[in-house]
Amino acid sequence: MKPRVLVTRHVYPAAIAILQEHCIVDYHDSHDVLDEVRLQKRLQHAQGLVCQLTDPITANVIAAAPQLRVISQVAVGHDNIDVAAATARGVVVTNTPGVLTEATADLTWALLLAAARRLPAAEQFLRAGKWRRWEVDLLCGSDVSGRTLGIVGFGRIGRAVARRALGFGMRVLYASRTAAPPELEQELRAIHVPLDTLLRESDFVSLHVPLGSETRHLIGVAQLCQMKRSAFLINTARGPIVDEAALVAALEEGLLAGAALDVFEAEPAVHPGLLQLPNVVLLPHVGSAVTSVRSLMCALAAADCAAVLTGERPKHPVNPQVLG
Ligand code: NAP
Ligand code: GLV
Repeated sequence: MKPRVLVTRHVYPAAIAILQEHCIVDYHDSHDVLDEVRLQKRLQHAQGLVCQLTDPITANVIAAAPQLRVISQVAVGHDNIDVAAATARGVVVTNTPGVLTEATADLTWALLLAAARRLPAAEQFLRAGKWRRWEVDLLCGSDVSGRTLGIVGFGRIGRAVARRALGFGMRVLYASRTAAPPELEQELRAIHVPLDTLLRESDFVSLHVPLGSETRHLIGVAQLCQMKRSAFLINTARGPIVDEAALVAALEEGLLAGAALDVFEAEPAVHPGLLQLPNVVLLPHVGSAVTSVRSLMCALAAADCAAVLTGERPKHPVNPQVLG
């Protein structure tokens, strides 16, 4: 008998084809998000789960799926999954690192440049028919080239962001619990510093840590107060890494020059204060939103789900200890 897999939301078709080779697929082909109750109901007889970052894969959901053997997330971040509960039950959790690194680093740079050079304001100005002539002080922004970029979390995406900074002749500081190998620091001309130093010295602070108990509100009132008044905060990691209310207050008080955010504390809700501020660039969590990348992410998650269910080793286990 083929194992049963729940696919919680719409995915690229390649993923379904991969799963159908080995499994019976219960496909919720919709953009609608299944809540905990609906997930519990649909997972009663499932051995596999292909889910997305919107899905609450809590301890209760896992407990309601007695036959579950694998949870495959179509994303690199997996803070919506109670990995400890899955591990305690011997359920493998997988994610999709790597394939989205360059796309997310590109988007980070798009945000950084848009904030520094006030691109949304400039475009709105033109579309509103307000452009009369070239003016020496029209919509002037901040320098990027030659300035200091502070990268918080120096993993795959943080390093890809640093690599792009080489082309802008920037000084790069990074904060991470462990230092990168010296050859890499040399290649990327990146300097390992404590977070406090990074916040005090950077013109742009870009966040690339995963969300967890250590990083929730990593950037709060105290950290925002340490930043330069001319600095920008960029967040393409996870919303709750920043205390959004504190960020709004800091921006309103002019403690920062601006912010550029792809992620929010309570997505899809956006703090109303952010929507009022002219010096903030806001995107709807599109860091990896490139068709080829999203398609690869779906295929990778499906392949890892099928791998576990057919007794193979998955490529990207988050809790490899379960595999022995
Ligand atoms: P990664 O390779 O695991 O990098 C994360 C880095 O953060 C690691 O190098 C880790 O190094 C560091 N870190 C962890 N905890 C830390 C802490 N408390 N303080 C300082 N550094 C810490 O992950 P990635 O592939 O770069 O992805 C990073 C995150 O980006 C994902 O978790 C996801 O939430 C987010 N993301 C968002 C989008 C989007 O669409 N906006 C797209 C992709 C990814 P140490 O353990 O040595 O500290
Ligand atoms: C997207 O946010 C991801 O974590 O892949």
